[in-house]
Amino acid sequence: MNLLVIGTGYVGSTTAMVFAELGWKVTGLDVDAHKINQLGQGILHFYEPGLEELIRKHIQSGQMKFTTDKDKAIQENDIIFICVGTPSLPDGSADLRFVKEVAEEIGQKMNGYKLVVTKSTVPVGTQELIASWIKAAQEQQYPFDAASNPEFLREGKAVEDALNPDRIIIGTPSERAANQLKALYHSFICPVVVTSPRTAEFIKYASNAFLATKISYINELARLCDKLNVNVKEVASGIGLDPRIGPSFLQAGIGYGGSCFPKDVSALILTAKHNNIELSVLEKVMQVNQTQHSYLTDKARERLGSFSDKKIAILGLAFKPDTDDIREAPSLRIIESLLDERAQLTLYDPVAVLPNDVKYASVAVCMEVEEALQDADAVFLCTEWPTIRSIDWSKMKQVMARGNVFDGRNLLNAQHMKALGYYYQSIGSND
Ligand code: UGA
Repeated sequence: MNLLVIGTGYVGSTTAMVFAELGWKVTGLDVDAHKINQLGQGILHFYEPGLEELIRKHIQSGQMKFTTDKDKAIQENDIIFICVGTPSLPDGSADLRFVKEVAEEIGQKMNGYKLVVTKSTVPVGTQELIASWIKAAQEQQYPFDAASNPEFLREGKAVEDALNPDRIIIGTPSERAANQLKALYHSFICPVVVTSPRTAEFIKYASNAFLATKISYINELARLCDKLNVNVKEVASGIGLDPRIGPSFLQAGIGYGGSCFPKDVSALILTAKHNNIELSVLEKVMQVNQTQHSYLTDKARERLGSFSDKKIAILGLAFKPDTDDIREAPSLRIIESLLDERAQLTLYDPVAVLPNDVKYASVAVCMEVEEALQDADAVFLCTEWPTIRSIDWSKMKQVMARGNVFDGRNLLNAQHMKALGYYYQSIGSND
């Protein structure tokens, strides 16, 4: 089977790689000629461990190719995956502009039966819209099926997740489409759930919203742990041993970021509102997340008096390790509030870079942890990169001007840090 993947961002590139690994011939299509040119040479335009090597392998073997030629790509491939972006509109709803453009192009260019599958995270009911957009754009009424097949990849772990899925969700009323998709994935040993497109679309939002709920739940408990001298890391391990709860997504910190959880939680709340349902639990999840970064800056302000003219180091910019993605990164919110209060900032991240925005112009970007910590009055740990996890804090005591450590990812042991002479504050693990 020959497959076309439209959109070569993080989801599209990973999806194309997976199908090439599974032995199918895959074409990646994008409107961005520069991106396609780079991908054709095996160069990835974002940081995702292990992905570039696999893409390069499949380009060399002829299993995978990249193009900007829409007409040819749509006509040569019978199974088409839509992997374009669905950014948030100002009201929090998903912007389906790119999905619509692609659906209309498929409708205009198709030359026979096509199975059109959506990987992008789209609101419930989008599959029906896609089918109507394709139909309306068709000059000749060729048959087609539209299906939903949401992805569950984590950035930074996309290769691992994509090659070891824990489930495959196929949303389609068509037996032909379901069988084609099952055949595509036949080498994977995991449950395959065939359901309606609406249910498949809902499963994706419900999964992300549930994981976000776990994070806000533990983050809010962490605030109480601080008051009660209880260690939230031990609480998370203790409750996580119950298989009904599970240990994952219970790391307290400065909140969740990225291109998925914030966007998907608010889109689901909005969908509910449009249907006169209040998702009060998720509204709280969002509120807790929006205040989690200031929980740590408040602690720092209490200690330092004011941030004005204090030299403060920020270690970690990416919204999580193993990615250069800074979308909705909690570090940015911390940086902005410190800059608003006229702190002097130094920043270290091994991969991610600040946006080219004038508001960050005064931040001194450092190539090494030690450079960022030089003469600092305080440090915020914002991302759990290995280079930040493994800092030799006994050495850094001489490097910093004052030993104030605000640990936004609960990386360090409070007793050890205090024994080294630091003033140490984390999110619920200060004992
Ligand atoms: C998330 C989901 O985990 C994927 O299953 C999903 O496919 C993806 O969204 C998507 O919809 O495309 P991702 O956003 O890449 O993946 O990253 P996560 O590993 O889920 O982390 C999200 C945020 O939560 C990060 O800021 C991370 O630091 C934070 N987090 C995660 C915590 O604060 N505590 C935790 O215990 C876990």
